[in-house]
Amino acid sequence: MEIAFDFSEIFPNEPIQQLDRGLLVRCNPRKYWAVQKAIDQLGELSAKAQGLKRVLTSYEKILDHDEEQTLYIMWHKHENKQNTSVVIGLLKVGRKKLYLLDSSQQQFEEKPLCILDFYVHELVQRKGNGHLLYNYMLNCEAMSAGMVAIDRPSDAFLQFLQKFYGLVDPILVWQSTNFVVYPQFFEGKKPVTHVESRVRCNHSEKVDPCLIPPVRSRGKDWNDSAGGIIHGTSELPARREAGPDTPLDRKNKRDFGHQSIW
Ligand code: ACO
Repeated sequence: MEIAFDFSEIFPNEPIQQLDRGLLVRCNPRKYWAVQKAIDQLGELSAKAQGLKRVLTSYEKILDHDEEQTLYIMWHKHENKQNTSVVIGLLKVGRKKLYLLDSSQQQFEEKPLCILDFYVHELVQRKGNGHLLYNYMLNCEAMSAGMVAIDRPSDAFLQFLQKFYGLVDPILVWQSTNFVVYPQFFEGKKPVTHVESRVRCNHSEKVDPCLIPPVRSRGKDWNDSAGGIIHGTSELPARREAGPDTPLDRKNKRDFGHQSIW
């Protein structure tokens, strides 16, 4: 995607630029209109490619978001046209509080780095650009591919993760959010103890068990997730405690436990 602006005027002439909120603020659209334009156009193309009703990524959305989000933009100078850049793709990450159960039903409460939006322009897909962009992000964030959670990955992204990082058997974090992790995610993590879980229960309002975050409290955070956009904000059913291997216990595992979705 061409933009009639030479990004090397403001960024180092490197293939990938990391943009945090501070840097985005300094790229004031009145002076550097092309930064906003590149982000907004890629955000729109990404939403279209993923079949989303609303865009996940725009210049304003990143600045307005309650929590810090970081954007990685891949670009290069146009080979023939002066003062023109070619924008290849974007990758947006940020931390989110997630409530998880591993395969042995242990409870975890984590705020991992999440992949929120990932797009490579359709003209240059399947040429290794996504891999370069993703590896760059993992290095910058000091993460391995199995340590991150992913907001509603597409089939193409799942295949990408399997091909380059050997990740298989994705696990749905929680049915209503569409965040996914891989089994490696739980390595070295400490589950929430029974006592911690009960303490949280005693302090929460009408939510049982307390490891389920109240949907309404997700607010803007939830509205900006792919799961929220696609599925709306339907209430989660409350989970009732049950003895081991009773019908209710088996129902709980079906309703609230991990599900392999692919
Ligand atoms: N179908 C199946 N697998 C695909 C596809 C596809 N259409 N596109 C990429 N892949 C996977 C394959 O494993 C492929 O290897 P192969 O060509 O040997 O089969 C590999 O990715 C290619 O790797 P790269 O060239 O490094 O990746 P690319 O530059 O194409 O970027 C990306 C990958 C970002 C998924 C890109 O294809 C894309 O933008 N797709 C459309 C939007 C999308 O699905 N984004 C992810 C949404 S989920 C989220 O953002 C959290």
